[in-house]
Amino acid sequence: MKPPLSSSDLHEEYYQVSPAILESFPRFRMPLDLFLFKEQIARLVPLSKAQQRISPEFRQEIAEHSAHGLIFVSRQDHPIYAEHISKQLDLVLLDTNLKHPEIALIFQQALTEKMEEFLQQPVAMVLEKLRADILVLTEYLWQDVFRIREVAKKTWPEHGLARHSVNVGFLGLALYLRRHQGKVDRKHLDEAALGFFLHDVGMAKVPRFILQKTKPLTMEERAKVSEHCWAGAKLLHGLGIRAEAVLKQALEHQERLNGKGYPQRLADPQISSWGQLCAVVDSFCAMTSTRVHAPAKTASEALGEMIQDPGYNQKMVRSLQAMILTEL
Ligand SMILES: [Fe+2]
Ligand SMILES: [Fe+2]
Repeated sequence: MKPPLSSSDLHEEYYQVSPAILESFPRFRMPLDLFLFKEQIARLVPLSKAQQRISPEFRQEIAEHSAHGLIFVSRQDHPIYAEHISKQLDLVLLDTNLKHPEIALIFQQALTEKMEEFLQQPVAMVLEKLRADILVLTEYLWQDVFRIREVAKKTWPEHGLARHSVNVGFLGLALYLRRHQGKVDRKHLDEAALGFFLHDVGMAKVPRFILQKTKPLTMEERAKVSEHCWAGAKLLHGLGIRAEAVLKQALEHQERLNGKGYPQRLADPQISSWGQLCAVVDSFCAMTSTRVHAPAKTASEALGEMIQDPGYNQKMVRSLQAMILTEL
């Protein structure tokens, strides 16, 4: 096996493609240009063009070069590479050449897509695909919890149900890990993640025209929106989910400590810490993104409002504030 190339310039502009990643490409047409490292001249030369037909013999030859660490793709083709990996997300765990910000972008892309699919079709089979990708994220974090910092920077600036869910997923995990100083067990990490991503799934049951309305909602429309917490918890329960972290987040993220939330108007001791944590992250993400009825607030404006609001757990708000100021 050839040692990794020493030229840092080369690694700035090209990725070395591992055999496992190469194996995952379509068999007879590569989705992007490949380059071969020629040892005699110590530089990369073009090997095959994207979509060019590849014979089985040529494929074999490429595989052998790859086993010796000699196959590269251009970093300029990152969008194509990222798109490919986002379809088989567990490949990010195998790829040692991607940088952490690039991996974070792939998680953002893949999870938003899977989230979108699940919101359109909230059935067990689609949930399984989403869950599998969320578990790739938790596995990635489990290997090194500090990786959450790069991931949490990749929030969408504009609202949309899938985008909002991903934002809450990323920031929720960051805050959860921060509050536990990274010392969490794997089962809880997985359940917390699932809960953050799925907290608003009940919104899929609210008619789109209500969610996209720019004028104030009527009483009936508001009632429809406030049903989303029950609807979400019920839907998830119906799909076999029993984890408290998931069900409580869906049911309680709109509750407020002063009893002014919904749907049950619970107050302080009755709201689980999952519900309280999700409420803080959910509100922050909603306020700081551009919505149909309101422009985005800055992080400090949103935090300033939340600090004044007795509906939120202030320890959690302060912890979010510290995280935003020092890490993101
Ligand atoms: Fe909600
Ligand atoms: Fe939400």
